Amino acid sequence: MSQESIQPIPKTMKAVVHYEFGGPEVLRCEDVPIPEPGAGEVLVKVLAVAIDYIQLHIRHGGSGRIGAASEASYGIKEPPYFPGGMACVEVVGLGTGVTGVEAGTRHLIGGLRPGAYVEYGVADAAGLQPRSDGKPGMTAYPSTFTPAEAVAFDYAPVAYHTLKVGAGLQAHETVLIHAAAGGTGVLAVQLAKHFGAQVIATAGSEEKITLVRELGADVAINYRTDDFVTAARDFTDGRGVDVVWESVGGDVFARSLDCMAEGARMVSFGSNSFTGNGQVDFWPFWVKNLKLIGWGGISNAQSRAPEIMTELIALAEAGKLKPVVRHVYRFSDAASAHRLIEERRSIGKVVLVP
Ligand SMILES: NC(=O)c1ccc[n+]([C@@H]2O[C@H](COP(=O)([O-])OP(=O)(O)OC[C@H]3O[C@@H](n4cnc5c(N)ncnc54)[C@H](OP(=O)(O)O)[C@@H]3O)[C@@H](O)[C@H]2O)c1
Repeated sequence: MSQESIQPIPKTMKAVVHYEFGGPEVLRCEDVPIPEPGAGEVLVKVLAVAIDYIQLHIRHGGSGRIGAASEASYGIKEPPYFPGGMACVEVVGLGTGVTGVEAGTRHLIGGLRPGAYVEYGVADAAGLQPRSDGKPGMTAYPSTFTPAEAVAFDYAPVAYHTLKVGAGLQAHETVLIHAAAGGTGVLAVQLAKHFGAQVIATAGSEEKITLVRELGADVAINYRTDDFVTAARDFTDGRGVDVVWESVGGDVFARSLDCMAEGARMVSFGSNSFTGNGQVDFWPFWVKNLKLIGWGGISNAQSRAPEIMTELIALAEAGKLKPVVRHVYRFSDAASAHRLIEERRSIGKVVLVP
């Protein structure tokens, strides 16, 4: 590392790691050495990390998708594994050959080494995303946001791209948004309303229903007490919805097909129910000309295109697009944070801080 560190760096740090696949209890917070940035890399201090659902899949062993191909395609590695995710960081040291990055600046970054639930990590300097404070490069979040809000806002491009580019949602259409009170769902509800669509939102508690109504949902259905298929058919006078925004999988995926209109589209981009290997009934697809759109992989990078980020940041600065952060946990309590999500008790994005 060059001598551009602006603060003394200790030798060891706290980091979250798991040595086996399993439930939240396998997460441990341990003392590990602080990594050294190599050529073209920076050492960063982590300020906040968003818990990404894919880290829950990886912790569970990715529904058996382990092996070299899985590592390349899904990032699923044999333990020991340091969970990753999008982090808001401050640069505290520069490796050799790094130019255009200043120590002391804040950024969003994915792909931290050894992981993201760490006090200090090493990152490729080229991957840093500056905030909208006039520095050169891509803007990532409004400069007034706290680190926790910044990492939660990183799911706005996901919501935008799945709805607009993936499913092609139009102003006159109706969209069914599942897990609407989740970290990405709250942003999807607000964006779908911004696009002019009618929003039917589902969630699993009255507290969540109140939130999604406040965010603009036209209809909010507690799926534990009411049938979302019936409600969606009723709201559309029996026609069905034009778009389903689907990240739950299993029965929710299957039953959503029953309330889709002729020619409707479903965008599938997750499986919160961990049921990725289930069977799909193709009958509704050819009887109703339905379209299934998968989203992820390189779509993630495309979703942060400068023109999309500019629109999202302008909306946020105008107070029309707000991330929701109600749960902030310490790294030492990462297991409780993962458990909260897995038990469907979280509202908005769950964030970890050192
Ligand atoms: N493809 C990609 O590149 C990409 C990128 C980012 C995010 N994603 C996906 O986007 C989805 C949303 O992510 P998020 O972080 O914002 O998560 P989230 O929506 O906050 O996830 C938690 C919520 O999922 C809902 N859920 C419904 N059925 C569930 C079940 N059987 N088990 C557990 N939870 C269930 C629960 O809410 P209710 O009970 O209220 O429904 C729960 O509170 C995830 O599937 C994630 O993998 C994909």
